[in-house]
Amino acid sequence: MLHVEGLCAGYHRLQILHEVGLRVGAGEIVAVVGGNGAGKTTTLKAIAGLLAPTSGTITFDGEPATGVRPSELVRRGLVLVPEDRALFGPLTVAENLRMGGWTRGRQPLEEDLEQVFELFPILAERRRQPAETLSGGQQQMLAIGRAMMARPRLLMLDEPSTGLSPKLTWAVLEAVQRIRERGVAVLLVEQNAAHALGIADRAYVLESGSIVLTGQGRELVRDDRVRAAYLGL
Ligand SMILES: Nc1ncnc2c1ncn2[C@@H]1O[C@H](COP(=O)(O)OP(=O)(O)O)[C@@H](O)[C@H]1O
Ligand SMILES: [Mg+2]
Repeated sequence: MLHVEGLCAGYHRLQILHEVGLRVGAGEIVAVVGGNGAGKTTTLKAIAGLLAPTSGTITFDGEPATGVRPSELVRRGLVLVPEDRALFGPLTVAENLRMGGWTRGRQPLEEDLEQVFELFPILAERRRQPAETLSGGQQQMLAIGRAMMARPRLLMLDEPSTGLSPKLTWAVLEAVQRIRERGVAVLLVEQNAAHALGIADRAYVLESGSIVLTGQGRELVRDDRVRAAYLGL
């Protein structure tokens, strides 16, 4: 569904990504793990059309996705939940969710809202509250819920566990698994390798802008290099 080949990208003249290659199949949860500054966010920005690659190809559903406007990629089903969550703080939970459906034009959004509330019941309880009054975990749920309003076929999550307690992290990851059960593929980027590898079908390890290791999520949890570098074992 997503094919990334030979992706090079950076900022100004500084190259950050060196021929990154990865793919996500339909219905898969794929993780990209790596330390701070490895290039995880840069990879997602390039895939989402927010950063122009210097070389390489990205295809989504067999169609070129390089040089395509971010809004057009969202319309095609490629949706990013950014690291900073980018919520509209003064707007309510329900208003934030409705904003996530804007690419769908005038189509009614009620059914989609109900599906998000089914995924995150706490958001239904808080639907009239401003987003900025939510806890960190609830804000992450809202950011994911808003992305779901665009009816993604591939959902990309940038460090969803940042700032969350282990308990809330598992709540979010459990929701990610239920999202996959709805037929949505997931590309999950995490510094917190233990969590991400725990739910990923496959994973890639990114170091200094290069993919250095790939395998099944469960395999990588047992890999000595991964254990030493990312799991502190
Ligand atoms: N806007 C930017 N301008 C210049 N350098 C950047 C910018 N954003 C990130 N970088 C650099 O790119 C590298 C990779 O960053 P990033 O993709 O954010 O890593 P990660 O998400 O894995 O922590 C880092 O060295 C970072 O300092
Ligand atoms: Mg990052």
